[in-house]
Amino acid sequence: MTKKYNWAILGCGRIATKFASDLKLLPNANLYAAASRDLTRAQDFANEYGFEVAYGSYQELVKDPKVDAVYIATPHSHHHEHTLLCLNHKKPVLCEKAFAMNLTEVNEMVACAKNNNTFLMEAFWTMFQPSFQKAMEIVRSGELGKLKIVRSDFAFNAPFIEDKRLYNIKLGGGSLLDIGIYPVFAALTSLGIPETIKSFAEFSSTGSEESLSMLFKYKNGEMANLTSSFSSYSPTQTEYLCENGYLVLNPRWFTPTDITICKEGGDVYTIESEHREGFGYQYEAQHVMECLDTGLIESPKMTWEISRNLMGVLDRIRIDAGIFFPDHDKQMFF
Ligand SMILES: NC(=O)c1ccc[n+]([C@@H]2O[C@H](COP(=O)([O-])OP(=O)(O)OC[C@H]3O[C@@H](n4cnc5c(N)ncnc54)[C@H](OP(=O)(O)O)[C@@H]3O)[C@@H](O)[C@H]2O)c1
Repeated sequence: MTKKYNWAILGCGRIATKFASDLKLLPNANLYAAASRDLTRAQDFANEYGFEVAYGSYQELVKDPKVDAVYIATPHSHHHEHTLLCLNHKKPVLCEKAFAMNLTEVNEMVACAKNNNTFLMEAFWTMFQPSFQKAMEIVRSGELGKLKIVRSDFAFNAPFIEDKRLYNIKLGGGSLLDIGIYPVFAALTSLGIPETIKSFAEFSSTGSEESLSMLFKYKNGEMANLTSSFSSYSPTQTEYLCENGYLVLNPRWFTPTDITICKEGGDVYTIESEHREGFGYQYEAQHVMECLDTGLIESPKMTWEISRNLMGVLDRIRIDAGIFFPDHDKQMFF
């Protein structure tokens, strides 16, 4: 008989609402507990989405023996701390992107998962989208010839609120860890780790990075041209430019979407998304439960190596563009 998992939400913010609503689509997921720093907020969240229990602290949540899996939905600046809290209480973790603030933190999280023999995965939902997987299958098949250039963007004009997480350096503010991570992921999953990185940043008045241009060059001449910004809008699409044509993951490319293919000679066609309901967070949650069903502590799809490589490249981009997080980077640079 399929096990039903008691899911818990750690941090009742914006993304937690979408994840909770998608969890409801999974028959083997039980919406069990919601924890907030504020009990009333946890209760409101639990009532709205149908969770059985509400906690006014994260510490209480991890002590509950009935919790089978925790979704961490706090700002990036707190992912390391909250992941260690859960893992040290043997709670399997699905932690939002960006997985942490730098590679040192990611390495400590992975070591903690191994020491506690407990599941840990970065909630990089794009990896599990049927449209992204289909695009990767086509690009890797060689049907369009060799992949030469990846162009990817993610930008929107984000209201300037100094103390909120998008512009607050203490909370990991800046476009890179919030949305720039997606174009970087697009390049890494198709071309791998670049040999050379050039990046240019523009900063807001809080000192947080606001716009970013990133160029990757690979050993065999491939390139990636990536953009993220909180000060403008962009199509938010990813283009894989190949020798015999190109493939476009249409806007918003990192969510469930359609694929357009253009082949040499002008043949253009669209592969429509198979996705029918929800936002698309159910795919990663389902995968976590499949891993737990078979006793895995590491996902075979969103591996620790992928998360490490991603964070390693984000660190290199930050060093090149002069983007620093003083509360976290002490370990990284000294
Ligand atoms: N996968 C995706 O599509 C997606 C989309 C958006 C965001 N995200 C990721 O999810 C994470 C949360 O983003 P969000 O947009 O949901 O943020 P948010 O609305 O600001 O919510 C974050 C929550 O974290 C908790 N928290 C704990 N310590 C905090 C602190 N010192 N300051 C502020 N909040 C704190 C708060 O919950 P309580 O007060 O209830 O404890 C807060 O509501 C980020 O890492 C982001 O990158 C992913």
